[in-house]
Amino acid sequence: MSSKPSLLVTRKLPEAVEARASRDYRARLNPTDDPLDGGGLARAAAGADGVLCTTTDRLDAAAIAKLPETVRVLATFSVGFEHIDLKAARARGLVVTNTPDVLTDATADVAMLLMLAAARRASEGEQLIRTDGWTGWAPTHMLGTHVSGKRLGILGMGRIGRAVAHRARAFGMVIHYHNRQQLAPEAEQGAIFHETPESLLPSADILSIHCPLTPDTRHFVDARRIELLPLGAIVVNTARGGIVKDDDLIAALRSGRIASAGLDVFDGEPRINPGYRGLPNTFLLPHLGSATRETREAMGFRALDNLDAFFAGRHPRDRIA
Ligand code: DGY
Repeated sequence: MSSKPSLLVTRKLPEAVEARASRDYRARLNPTDDPLDGGGLARAAAGADGVLCTTTDRLDAAAIAKLPETVRVLATFSVGFEHIDLKAARARGLVVTNTPDVLTDATADVAMLLMLAAARRASEGEQLIRTDGWTGWAPTHMLGTHVSGKRLGILGMGRIGRAVAHRARAFGMVIHYHNRQQLAPEAEQGAIFHETPESLLPSADILSIHCPLTPDTRHFVDARRIELLPLGAIVVNTARGGIVKDDDLIAALRSGRIASAGLDVFDGEPRINPGYRGLPNTFLLPHLGSATRETREAMGFRALDNLDAFFAGRHPRDRIA
């Protein structure tokens, strides 16, 4: 009998990651990449020692209760872990790990892409060309908003928030932020701390969301908080769709209260609120924040590093439960 632990890998992963998983584990891969529902995941995990899951696997208390007793560790291929009920995992004695750090730059790059695209009306411009509607350059054609000199309000100044601030400084933006804790001055680098989101929002010509989705942040950006933003502000979200109350943001985009939005994540994705589709003042991406070859490989290797540590009896570096 092989001494390698048995590992269920719930989604298709980059080739190099699957090769390493197959070398070091009795890996059960998912070559067709069909997502597993809670029951399907539990059946697929029969006899497995660990599960390498992703953000598309809903591991709520009911799904965790269905997992076979053999499973001792869940390594999620994501930094976000709102899809896993950590309390239920702890109660079951499961170790849970995530993949921070390695996707910081890729996600911050996409936040800048969304910010610039929303400010400069990239979606409308692209549509015009694709539909052969462009009649030529004109001094007043499709004027957008300058980002340089504008105040960027960062909601959640963790790794990704700080990486966005770093990039935005190069664009001449003034950084404001709200975070549970004020950063040390060397990490702040001149960014202006707001003790409450209510204080941050009026200072955010552009709001970029970088906090985790928790019961406290669900639908945090709602009509009441949108009213606190300057008229014609821009909203960018690369964190989790559920932080925004879609109907409220859509109404504000329709009325012009919010000038434009750049969104990479959506509540209930991939079945997004259809109200977004017809809005010209949105730049929408299908959750591509970490989607570079380099980053997705690094995420897979990080998840495997955590599993290796667990099965070697060491403390996994990214243990979250
Ligand atoms: C994460 O890691 O949480 C991302 O959203 C998935 O790319």
